[in-house]
Amino acid sequence: MYLVFPTHAELARYTSQKLKTLMLSAVPTTVGLATGSTMEPVYANLIQSLQSAGPQDFKQLVSFNLDEYVGLNRQHPQSYRYYMQQHLFDHIGLPDEQTFLPDGSCTDIDEQCAWYSQAIQQRGGLDFQLLGIGTNGHIGFNEPGTPFDSRTHVVELSEQTRIDNGRFFDDFAEVPTHAITLGIADIMEAKEVWLLITGEHKAQTVLNYHRSAVDENMPASVLKRHPNAHILLDQAAATLLPAEVQTHYRTQAA
Ligand code: GLP
Repeated sequence: MYLVFPTHAELARYTSQKLKTLMLSAVPTTVGLATGSTMEPVYANLIQSLQSAGPQDFKQLVSFNLDEYVGLNRQHPQSYRYYMQQHLFDHIGLPDEQTFLPDGSCTDIDEQCAWYSQAIQQRGGLDFQLLGIGTNGHIGFNEPGTPFDSRTHVVELSEQTRIDNGRFFDDFAEVPTHAITLGIADIMEAKEVWLLITGEHKAQTVLNYHRSAVDENMPASVLKRHPNAHILLDQAAATLLPAEVQTHYRTQAA
């Protein structure tokens, strides 16, 4: 199901309210978080909303991030751990022991991958998974062709993904060639999934998703099989969808 918001800002506000409710839950809650520029206003809104609600302890919350670059440690400004500390965790005082990301600088990557999927399962799986999308349809770092039954694994990043993500690095040669990502099967076991897609530069990706059958060459298309997946778009990302689809799913809710 799509939800089409007039702007990225409104989509971000709406998503932050969902995350806030999950994070303040009175029962154990496991949330899958994502990085990327799409999520920056989501986390900015979330911080503001949590801070205005007064001190929180997040006792019931554990988070697992989707992915991390191989070879970057948590102090590296382009590592996803650094992003999460800067854009969310440090602002709300979420302790390290409640937040998990794959460790891109670990010595035994295969062991780390196996541990990561198991750690999520031991918590009873993800209650909620937040997702962005790459222009080639990747979710997490599951590039086109990734088997739908994959668990946390190491991937070689496609040229397209390295080019897309190169904007965050001073020099293209510094863009990592590999990453650790939650697998498609891990993502599909989440009880609820929200895929956020914003900006005109993702409009073609949205159209490709819309037209795609459930196909490993369009990783996000697997969500068409998920019983509780929602695709949240801003108007700019929705522009190439058929007019009746845009109208049908338009929402003002924020
Ligand atoms: C990276 C991340 C993805 C993210 C994607 C989109 O490749 N691994 O999880 O969804 O970028 O990022 P952005 O929101 O910056 O377009």
